Amino acid sequence: MKTDAPQTTYLKNYKPYPYSIERLNLDFKIHDGYTLVKSRMEMKRVDSGDIYLYGEALELLSLRLDGDDVVDYIVDEAGLTIPAPVADSFVLEIETKIKPEKNTRLEGLYQSGGNYCTQCEAEGFRRITYFPDRPDVMSVYTVRVEADKKYSVLLSNGNLREQGEVDGGRHYAVWHDPFKKPCYLFALVAGDLTHIHDTFTTMSGREVDLYVYVRPGDENQCAHAMESLKKSMKWDEEVYGLEYDLDIFNIVAVSDFNMGAMENKSLNIFNTALVLAAPETATDSDFMRVESVIAHEYFHNWSGNRVTCRDWFQLSLKEGLTVFRDQEFSADIHSAPVQRIDDVSHLRRLQFVEDSSPLAHPIRPEEYIEINNFYTMTVYEKGAEVIRMFRTLMGAETYRKATDLYFSRHDGDAATCEDWIACMAEASGLDLEQFRLWYSQAGTPEVSFKGEYNEKTKSYNVLLKQSILDTAGQKGKKPMHIPVAIGLLGANGNDLIETQILHLKEAVQEFVIENVALPPIPSVLRGFSAPVKLKVDYTPEQLAFLMVHDSDGFNRWDAAQRYYTQVVHEVAGGGEVSDAFLSVYGDLLEAAAVQGADKALMARMLAIPDVVELGQSFKPIDPVEINKARDKILAAIKRTHRKALDDLYQGNSLSEVYAFNHIQCGRRSLRSVVLGLLTATNGTGCAKTAKTHYEAADNMTDRMAALNAVAANKNAEREDIFGDFYERFKSYPLVVDKWFSSQAMAVRSDIIDCLNKLKQHPDFNIKNPNRVRSLYAAFAMNNPVGFHAVDGSGYMFLRDGIIELNGINPQIAARLLTAFRSWRDYTPDRQEKMKAALEAILAIPNIAPDVFEIASKSLKG
Ligand code: ARG
Ligand code: ZN
Repeated sequence: MKTDAPQTTYLKNYKPYPYSIERLNLDFKIHDGYTLVKSRMEMKRVDSGDIYLYGEALELLSLRLDGDDVVDYIVDEAGLTIPAPVADSFVLEIETKIKPEKNTRLEGLYQSGGNYCTQCEAEGFRRITYFPDRPDVMSVYTVRVEADKKYSVLLSNGNLREQGEVDGGRHYAVWHDPFKKPCYLFALVAGDLTHIHDTFTTMSGREVDLYVYVRPGDENQCAHAMESLKKSMKWDEEVYGLEYDLDIFNIVAVSDFNMGAMENKSLNIFNTALVLAAPETATDSDFMRVESVIAHEYFHNWSGNRVTCRDWFQLSLKEGLTVFRDQEFSADIHSAPVQRIDDVSHLRRLQFVEDSSPLAHPIRPEEYIEINNFYTMTVYEKGAEVIRMFRTLMGAETYRKATDLYFSRHDGDAATCEDWIACMAEASGLDLEQFRLWYSQAGTPEVSFKGEYNEKTKSYNVLLKQSILDTAGQKGKKPMHIPVAIGLLGANGNDLIETQILHLKEAVQEFVIENVALPPIPSVLRGFSAPVKLKVDYTPEQLAFLMVHDSDGFNRWDAAQRYYTQVVHEVAGGGEVSDAFLSVYGDLLEAAAVQGADKALMARMLAIPDVVELGQSFKPIDPVEINKARDKILAAIKRTHRKALDDLYQGNSLSEVYAFNHIQCGRRSLRSVVLGLLTATNGTGCAKTAKTHYEAADNMTDRMAALNAVAANKNAEREDIFGDFYERFKSYPLVVDKWFSSQAMAVRSDIIDCLNKLKQHPDFNIKNPNRVRSLYAAFAMNNPVGFHAVDGSGYMFLRDGIIELNGINPQIAARLLTAFRSWRDYTPDRQEKMKAALEAILAIPNIAPDVFEIASKSLKG
């Protein structure tokens, strides 16, 4: 067991690097079993001090300064120190040997499916060569890659300068990137790949070559990625005035990847799951995700690459902004309210939980042990909400002026969140002093609303209160600046006023809205104008009213969520499913059947929140009991509204050939929700219905709906469907992932047996992150009933997986471990067992810093 705790890095200790690297030449010679890396750095002194270079898992072959061997360097665990040279500028040359084939961490240079690729963000470059691996050291790169010709494609950042043959059946390529960049944006690919090609003409008339590289056989699943890329390039020109800056843009898909994708300059590397999409093998949600992640990585070319981060504490500077940009892209090309609903439910489901856990941190953290642990929902999704609030505060037009200022002022910089805020303040003239607390205070603010109509003055009085619970290391929070969008509805459902933004700045604050002709029903936090938990004492009748009449689509949906949550609480407390609720639900089913209704929106409104979402309103959480209550409600809906459900199911089948568009996706999603209700009781009829759905399916969306509908069923149809599915798709790894996860998410008493069988399945591979997620993450994050089984069997299953992964891929191990972070929110017996699992993990000999950080902070909190 490791005795000393791993080192913590602090924001307050930031110091600029004392040298600059004007030019960097890298030379890679890839051989079977090892790769030789030569680095040549043209360096300049900018301050006094020794040269510290990070390096991990490297074999140092030579180290020369201006041609002479360096002898007095000092090596430590994390890198090496070279005493300050006398000269002001000099050339440092380093040769190292690395073993990509042995790299199971998937950071630095590694092999995936026999091909070579890199992942350097955040600190993977130090596994390639000794280097000041920090984002504020930026250089112009020239890269030579040499490998056997069986790796027909040799890629790196920038433009291709030269290529040719080398003796012994080898070849090489030289790439040059004219833009200065930090090493985390470096990338290299050497592989046996095929591609599709297209072009895009930028707003200034430059033609850019676009390539999507995949393994041979996958080329017919790339068209959607290419279309998404072209849409993204156009959108960024139109909405942000940002144009692409090189003549080539490459996307490469690899099957072993820790995260979703990576924005390396002109050479984006993607998880195959976020590139490949064809109707037979990808669901509508997959299509959606591919499109938005392609956009996200493309948008990084400006928000991330042209303007990068000074240090990793500033991560949200690029990630929050880029997520906001991709969310708005999706909203613009599909449906704004539906996009908002999906983004907010994602935020609530995952970020709110993180924010109330021992791992809560502000969007700009102040310390970390392992930066990879901070690629979180908070930094990304809450970060995006903060950017959205800037726009809300100043309006879209001023926001555009502010981003213009930011991108022009900081082009080529490694910037900070302060730089961003300064541009926002300068362009808008707003006082953002209080608002900047969003960067430093963790925790989700709770806002309570009370409204009162004054008949005499025809005004509406609003009382808003805010508070934030203490979080780890942060007590006694200050009131935040919270934009609360509000509308007032008259009895006929019309808006009595235009939506107003109330600027909540005090702990308790009153507002008066004048000229309100009639007593209204308030619609609060329209469009989810701030990432807060809103408390309003709505009656069920008011919620039912808002569900139908609110002109704000998001709040119509949110009213339904609130209503359902109330009903679940009633039933969990021993009550019956009320006729009033069933009648409101019936009205909703009727509204969904109306011609011209937004089916995508109706699908979301009709979906009863799942156990994870519902759990957040219970203290303590007992997922098994919540699920029982939920099941009762589903059964009551099915019993009461059988005819309406059948009609809706029949009425939304599609005869046209599959297309990925709002109308078709809406109908499929509505039909899937209805199928879920029709099969919720898991009887023989349900199994038959699911099987019919499966057999009629001509696309993966419908197939998955059937698979999920039958996964918990005990009838023979389940084996038929899962068996057929596997046989059909066993040569498509991404589809096999779905086959794994659908089983791992099933609510069944024999779930642990199922999981163990899956773990022993020949297709299970602990080294492939997608497969690991399809088993462990699907179970721990999306099967609350199985994971939180009272006997603790779910906890033990995950614990053992984490212990195994600690030595293979600590980044993935640490991710899975977050499933335990909220252990204090559960019933006492569960708390005890989750705590024991955390303690067992903390006792792993050679525990990785990644895993140590999550386990120790979860226990401490
Ligand atoms: N910058 C990438 C993105 O687009 C994420 C890469 C993070 N990778 C990691 N190992 N931490 O969001
Ligand atoms: Zn990103």
